[in-house]
Amino acid sequence: MRLQVEVLADAREIGRRGADVVAGELLAGRLRVLGVATGSSPLQVYESLAARDLPGWDGVEVFALDEYVGLPAGDRASYADVVDREVRAPLGVDPARVHVPDGRADDLDAACDAYEQALVAAGGVDVQVLGIGATGHIGFNEPGSPFSSRTRVVELTPRTVADNARFFASADDVPRRAITQGIATIARARRHVLIARGEGKAEAVRAALEGEVAPDCPASALRTFEDVLVLLDPAAASLLTRSPARAVGAG
Ligand code: GLP
Repeated sequence: MRLQVEVLADAREIGRRGADVVAGELLAGRLRVLGVATGSSPLQVYESLAARDLPGWDGVEVFALDEYVGLPAGDRASYADVVDREVRAPLGVDPARVHVPDGRADDLDAACDAYEQALVAAGGVDVQVLGIGATGHIGFNEPGSPFSSRTRVVELTPRTVADNARFFASADDVPRRAITQGIATIARARRHVLIARGEGKAEAVRAALEGEVAPDCPASALRTFEDVLVLLDPAAASLLTRSPARAVGAG
């Protein structure tokens, strides 16, 4: 097991470092499946990857972590749209190889099972990019999510609804339910890169890295994963009491 924490100067440095990991796997021929998070934190990773003009993206499968329930097709806030806009188009991934849970399915439970099966059929995620919510969520696994959880329908906490309101016209427009890969689903990825920036994430980062390893902080499950790189800016790292491996300016 390997968990490495690096504190970098800003979003650009974090993006570059995260992209180094993904690009390294791609160029070594080990990136068959990329797991992507939405939200603002990983955007610079995708931007940095796109700027490198790497070959081979057309053969990579992309799996999203989660999706809102009930948003209409083409809604800009839907994660299907975000992944299309921020990942598929800039990298040149084959649209047929992009997978996002179906939040519009009549039978949502069946859609969750189908997503688990698709992940297994693709051979599992090689590198999973993650953000973290202020509640400590990864994907949309809110506090209390069992570490054994699989892809399923979940209720969002009021805090998550409020935090994500910035992507919608108003908080009333934020769906209250989502489909998310479970913690056990996310755990199966071979490598994880978690990104957190800003003061608003500092407490969640502290709980994840230094609190109890328990479902109260879903991101604490990272400490049970095989190979994890945590990339923080100084504000997100500000409540850590154990000195993380400082790498400011590196990479
Ligand atoms: C969202 C997503 C997560 C994301 C997190 C952080 O609700 N479901 O996958 O990692 O919240 O978002 P941001 O990076 O915008 O802070």
